[in-house]
Amino acid sequence: MNKALRKAVIAGNWKMNMTPSQAKALIEEMKPLVKDADCDVVLCVPYVDVFAAMEAAEGSNIKIGVENCHWAESGAFTGEISSVMLKEIGVPYVIIGHSERRQYFGETDVTVQKRVRAALDNGLKVILCVGEYLEQREQGITSEVVRMQTKIALGGVSEAELENIIIAYEPVWAIGTGKTATAEQANEVNAEIRKCVGELYGKTAADKLTVQYGGSMNAKNADELLAQEDVDGGLIGGASLKAADFSVIVKAASK
Ligand code: PGA
Repeated sequence: MNKALRKAVIAGNWKMNMTPSQAKALIEEMKPLVKDADCDVVLCVPYVDVFAAMEAAEGSNIKIGVENCHWAESGAFTGEISSVMLKEIGVPYVIIGHSERRQYFGETDVTVQKRVRAALDNGLKVILCVGEYLEQREQGITSEVVRMQTKIALGGVSEAELENIIIAYEPVWAIGTGKTATAEQANEVNAEIRKCVGELYGKTAADKLTVQYGGSMNAKNADELLAQEDVDGGLIGGASLKAADFSVIVKAASK
């Protein structure tokens, strides 16, 4: 099975939650629960939590990431953080193109592509988010939407660099709504994304790519979603804020 070619990655996306002291406490609670994971475990946290999170996670199998980064190295971009800064402090992962960035902060496929480029140039591993709105699914254009988002974001990314990319399929209608895509829907779109990547880079590269599902994945539905051939992990919002729930998902990915 091709699934065996790829490492499962369970990544938490804390969004705008947790102060540094709360971050420390949550990671301390999580550490013993996820220590035997047979998958990669990542927590993407607000920028201000990075130091507390890295300190708390030190010596454990939990890796820390952030939720965005700018494309420029430095400059007049008030409120932004560059990948050069993240590199210096040793943050290994960054989420790029999350639908909340696209929806509320004017992120476009083109700015996503620029951010991906900068992150790769600075040695970061990118969790690239793609996904359709409910209206797009109803119009039957899910595949076109995720293909376009994927192709634009990967513009200029080499086959060697693809090893530092994880793609997270996150249907926008399933994020934070409690409405999960069915395991079949998740698998179908994940497979479509892999096919698209295969057209760009060849089957061998595509077979090695980790494609996560995200959108109301939780302790109850993780088993079924993660058992799908093309679902290689999850990007977890709400359930990553609770140590017990998150660890159940990590265990489901470790089977
Ligand atoms: P959710 O968020 O698990 O709370 O739906 C997922 C995400 O936005 O990455």
